[in-house]
Amino acid sequence: MKLHNLKIPEEQVNFKQAVIQGIGQQRGLFFVEKFQLLDNIDEILKMDFIERSSHIIHHLIDGELAYEQVNKMVSRAFNFSLPIKHIDEKICCLELFHGKTLAFKDFGARFMAQCVKAFNEEDEVTILTATSGDTGAAVAHAFYKIDGIKVKILYPQGKISNLQEKLFCTLGENIETYAIDGDFDDCQRMVKAAFDSDEIRKKHNLTSANSINISRLLAQVCYYFEMASQYPDGNLVVAVPSGNFGNLTAGLIARQCGAPIKRFIAVTNANDTVPRYLINQVWSPNKTVETASNAMDVSDPSNWPRIMSLFDNDLDELRQVISASIKTDEQTYHAMRQLQQLNYIAEPHTAIAYAGLVESLTGDEQGVFISTAHPAKFIETVENILDIKIPLPKALAKVKGLENLSTTMTNDTSNFNKMLLK
Ligand SMILES: Cc1ncc(COP(=O)(O)O)c(C=O)c1O
Repeated sequence: MKLHNLKIPEEQVNFKQAVIQGIGQQRGLFFVEKFQLLDNIDEILKMDFIERSSHIIHHLIDGELAYEQVNKMVSRAFNFSLPIKHIDEKICCLELFHGKTLAFKDFGARFMAQCVKAFNEEDEVTILTATSGDTGAAVAHAFYKIDGIKVKILYPQGKISNLQEKLFCTLGENIETYAIDGDFDDCQRMVKAAFDSDEIRKKHNLTSANSINISRLLAQVCYYFEMASQYPDGNLVVAVPSGNFGNLTAGLIARQCGAPIKRFIAVTNANDTVPRYLINQVWSPNKTVETASNAMDVSDPSNWPRIMSLFDNDLDELRQVISASIKTDEQTYHAMRQLQQLNYIAEPHTAIAYAGLVESLTGDEQGVFISTAHPAKFIETVENILDIKIPLPKALAKVKGLENLSTTMTNDTSNFNKMLLK
């Protein structure tokens, strides 16, 4: 697989290097110039999820690992189901929250753990990552108690749900968590600054587990093919609840490889940098605001350059495939209530995607909205808005009463870097 740094195209790496390094010089993201079409799409769409995903990843990494090895890694990583639920005749929901940490992040994090295990040649590696809520838990659980791997996770203090926090800040062992007095963009900035320091990178053998890391995106490509396998006739419209835009990037890669997806709707909350950019072509992130869909409270999404590169930076081309929509918290709650009427309980991130889809579908289009988290992960909001009680799944009941082991820190980059150098 040939990847280049989007900021410094001369910096070229293969898949293994991109996984281990995480990010390129000057914080440039590694990406592929053009993803090649799968030449046997019809056959691929008929396969079961594991076999199909193994073929897709083997194709994406250009045979850098043998098919049999990819197949083993995929079987170990994707050890949970991804049901499609029918909401009405035109709309269904792809549930991606049946993994260990009850969010779609389990796909990427578990596959990344397989890649790091396969590629790592150092005695000790540190995975440094920022989370807006769900990545933290997925990464922590995927790497928990793996010899030779330390995990450091930064998250915005008080800005993620209590149960999201409990899922990854109570593990201990090789998992260290830092509650940052700031927002997700601060956490992301601090992580990137640590990567900028050669000294820190070398001292810790740093790699990143954010959607910066290409292995996570490749894993996510697979579930778009699952939708396409159920609706292969080319009318599929997918609504993606978007924050850092990794999920949408994966969907676009799937489409470039030949998944029959007609178009995408990127739905954001009030952190609306991308929707505004699509209208006025000016990239001007506002200060991040807190919303009910906290994991999408991102105002400077790092994956956007990858999306632009998929369209050769041609915004007109991009607009033919992606439309965007912004939903306020009130609209989000309204969508949760509408779904409840249709016998479906959704948390805010999922409901945002539904809201964007309903208003946009036309003619014979078939819509799928992506459900990115289990409703119980946002139990306070769901119970409050829908006036119901929902049972706590085992994974959450187990951690609910445990002590939070996080270290609290300011959002000052130099402080954090000093701590890493100690
Ligand atoms: C529940 C949930 N929904 C949606 C998103 C947004 O996904 P992305 O950052 O890939 O756009 C996240 C990201 O953290 C999330 O945790």
